[in-house]
Amino acid sequence: MYILGIESSCDETAAAVVKDGREVISNVVATQIAEHRLYGGVVPEIASRRHCENIYQVVEKALDDASLTLDDITAIGVTYAPGLIGALLVGVSFAKGLALTSGKELVNVHHIAGHIASNYITHKELEPPYLCLVASGGHSHIIEVSDYTHYKVIGRTRDDAAGECFDKAARTLGFEYPGGKFIDSAAKRGDPFAYDLPHPRVQGSEYDFSFSGLKTAVINLVHNAAQKGQTLDPDDVAASFQRTVCEILVKNTINAAKAGGYKTIAVAGGVSANSGLRDAMQQACDKNGFKLFLPELKYCGDNAAMIASQGYYDYISGKRAGMDLNGIATLSLDDISK
Ligand code: KG4
Ligand code: ZN
Repeated sequence: MYILGIESSCDETAAAVVKDGREVISNVVATQIAEHRLYGGVVPEIASRRHCENIYQVVEKALDDASLTLDDITAIGVTYAPGLIGALLVGVSFAKGLALTSGKELVNVHHIAGHIASNYITHKELEPPYLCLVASGGHSHIIEVSDYTHYKVIGRTRDDAAGECFDKAARTLGFEYPGGKFIDSAAKRGDPFAYDLPHPRVQGSEYDFSFSGLKTAVINLVHNAAQKGQTLDPDDVAASFQRTVCEILVKNTINAAKAGGYKTIAVAGGVSANSGLRDAMQQACDKNGFKLFLPELKYCGDNAAMIASQGYYDYISGKRAGMDLNGIATLSLDDISK
């Protein structure tokens, strides 16, 4: 069964065809990063306009690359939440039009569920139940994945997402947006123990995250040094910062896995591309006897293959969307798992 996936929740216009939920047949991503970089972050209005301009060609290329036509597609899976509302609406409207004119079924896919599915297209053997850390530019969640369509969020960020924190730290160090990958490279050259940065805790909520204090600590470290005329080695700051973020993400995830009796952990989202996180999580899983699944690097960031994969599992569970489908800017995974 072929599912056509469409993703437009932020700054990537993407379409993909996935067979039986696991086999990626085509995967097309048109990124807008170069344009948003001029402004130091994603400009929602520009994102919506570029999605409008790109979506037809991106979907057409996904079908062409797969050597398929719409006739071969069983259903169209589209990201409808969460994300930038104007950006979501482009994908949702396009998918509705395509479904209506082709007579294909439409399935609404939650973006975070899509990130979780990035491990299904990377690892054919991964099956629920397991615990998944999703760390992206907009979210930092620890999620119990009880089956392919049921989730419970047991840890979340109280303020900034991990990716947001990477991007702010990167900006302070003078790297371009989005700076996560630049921190990753700089950290490889720096001393991870050069600076002792705070590990903010969330009172009364063991698995929740708080990254704003860490973000402020990096900003203060760099600005205080500048005011005193001192120069810091950005590689050392990047390495110390990355070590701290990874320690926080790994610690909460491992603790949650132990408490929940899980044997398997997965990581997903843009930050799962981080080499320090991948290494630290692997070491912690080896030490504690957990099996770890990490997405292939090309499926860590936003893409439509993960949406088509999750669309398949949603489709076979009976989920369908009608022509009244709308984009939703904020929607917890818990709310779609009732
Ligand atoms: O999942 P994603 O592509 O978009 C959202 O759904 O938010 O995540 C984007 C985030 C950005 O904050 C970006 O800096 C971060 O993922 N990121 C990284 C790396 N690659 C991307 N953060 C740390 N290390 C990386 N190698
Ligand atoms: Zn994402």
